[in-house]
Amino acid sequence: MCGIFGYTGTGRAPEIVLEGLKRLEYRGYDSFGIAVPGTPVQVIKKQGRISDAGQCTYSLHGTVAIGHTRWATHGVPSDVNAHPHQDCTGKIAVVHNGIIENYAVLKRELMGRGHVFTSETDTEVIAHLLEESYNGDLLGAVETILPRLEGSYALLVIAEGDRRIIAARQHSPLVIGIGDGAMFAASDMTPVLEHTRRMIVLEDGDVASLTPDTLEIFNGGNPRKRDEEIVQWSVEDVRKGGFPHFMIKEIFEQPDVFSAAIRALRSEELPTRLLNAGQVVLVACGTSYHAALVFKYLLEEQCRIPARVEYASEFRYFTPPIEGLVIGITQSGETADTLMALRMAALHNCSTLAITNVMGSSVSRIADHTILMHAGPEISVAATKSFIAELAVFLHLIDAIREGGCAARLDHAHRAIDEALLLDLSSAVKCCIPAQDIFFVGRGPYYPIALEGALKMKEISYIHAEGYAAGEIKHGPFALLSEATPVVALCPPGDTYGVMVSNIREMKARGTPLIILGEGGDRDLEEIADVFIPLPGADSVAGLLSATVILQLLAYHTADALGRDIDKPRNLAKSVTVE
Ligand code: F6R
Repeated sequence: MCGIFGYTGTGRAPEIVLEGLKRLEYRGYDSFGIAVPGTPVQVIKKQGRISDAGQCTYSLHGTVAIGHTRWATHGVPSDVNAHPHQDCTGKIAVVHNGIIENYAVLKRELMGRGHVFTSETDTEVIAHLLEESYNGDLLGAVETILPRLEGSYALLVIAEGDRRIIAARQHSPLVIGIGDGAMFAASDMTPVLEHTRRMIVLEDGDVASLTPDTLEIFNGGNPRKRDEEIVQWSVEDVRKGGFPHFMIKEIFEQPDVFSAAIRALRSEELPTRLLNAGQVVLVACGTSYHAALVFKYLLEEQCRIPARVEYASEFRYFTPPIEGLVIGITQSGETADTLMALRMAALHNCSTLAITNVMGSSVSRIADHTILMHAGPEISVAATKSFIAELAVFLHLIDAIREGGCAARLDHAHRAIDEALLLDLSSAVKCCIPAQDIFFVGRGPYYPIALEGALKMKEISYIHAEGYAAGEIKHGPFALLSEATPVVALCPPGDTYGVMVSNIREMKARGTPLIILGEGGDRDLEEIADVFIPLPGADSVAGLLSATVILQLLAYHTADALGRDIDKPRNLAKSVTVE
């Protein structure tokens, strides 16, 4: 959701923080702000995008700064609601990611004691609470007020004339970067990678005090030592590398991501025995949920292991009777719903396994076991390469369970992704551009691929798109089909081919423009389709991967032709750390 970044060192802090916030903008982009601890504390903050802000820091000076890029939760996007927030005296400034759930009670109390609030945010209560506790010892003041906060937070705090940054974390990610005569604190690793690969991931309850040369960490008032990690991601991973958008860069990285994931998994010992522990429950959100659905189909069909898939947001509150293994799938490792679902699973005495892309993320602290998907940092708000990496993990797990690793199958999949990237989709894109609604249909494991295709289309092009199990279309949605409603049909060879062709013909009879993905050379499909797209690897599991890539590209090029802001879709942000 929001992104926070702090720097203390010897360089020009406002500019360093400004650049760092640009890297974090994918976490939220409706307003931003920076504060430096001069006398008094100086703050600039504005509604709008930091990437459009130019050199807005010219009035700020110093070697310490904290900053924030916002995804609004409490209060509309505006200059006053932008962070940093300050107390009544202007001596303290705070940036915050998360939600203070009891802020309304605290605000009433504080106003009763004469505090004047300037914003509608939950965060401002923190600044006023600090004002009451601060007597020159900023660390002590933060430690005093934290027990009063309910909810989630990653906080950075500075005070007038103090060169320290105080950082605190509870249920919201916060990493510390250790540089050469400089310290960094950030919501995730991306802005820190420019400066250092030495990172420490703070744990819940940690409070840290940062100076250019020292880092002290406390938890419950006691000093704590946290392990330093050398992050393998490179700074190139967080740059566009000549592509116009992160999304298309990440789509094109997928052949490498798939191979890298498989290579890494081959050298790890995977907890496959857990999957044989009776029923498997998969919990996830959004794109990761669709990947989980693919896994369910493959696990049941190829390993005869029963699996159910639940939206993490539902599972947490409506937990079904469960036993055995619960797997949480989350690219970011920070999605609040998935974290809560895994906590719930642990309360029901289930074993828990996390599949995530981010080393040291919150999910890996909650789950009994973690498998990393090795996709590299995903910056685009619309997830692409993490989906392919999740499928790589699942295919590898299935091979491991069947004890017959099938390298050829995985090489074939890699080739199919490569070939999909080379296809000309211009006719299909032309068909989608004028549409107000598009249906995506498939059967079996292609059904979740259709769901994912529809999600990609709607989130970046803003064309309403629905994914359907092809057989369900005639139970209602048929009423919506017309010459203006394209259907994208996933129709590989196999058991359901015949019935899919019947479904497609029924749609054709309603005048619906048909974009069909099927095996190259299928004359029947070519004849029915308005646009036929040959599906690389259609006769094997590789077709699932190539179909995914084709639908990502279809969404991307449609959105691009419509002039959408692809890397920053309306109302969205990466990493949903609130419920
Ligand atoms: C869609 C998208 C979201 C995420 C969802 C879960 O393109 O990115 O639907 O997939 O928010 O995120 P993770 O996998 O980080 O838990």
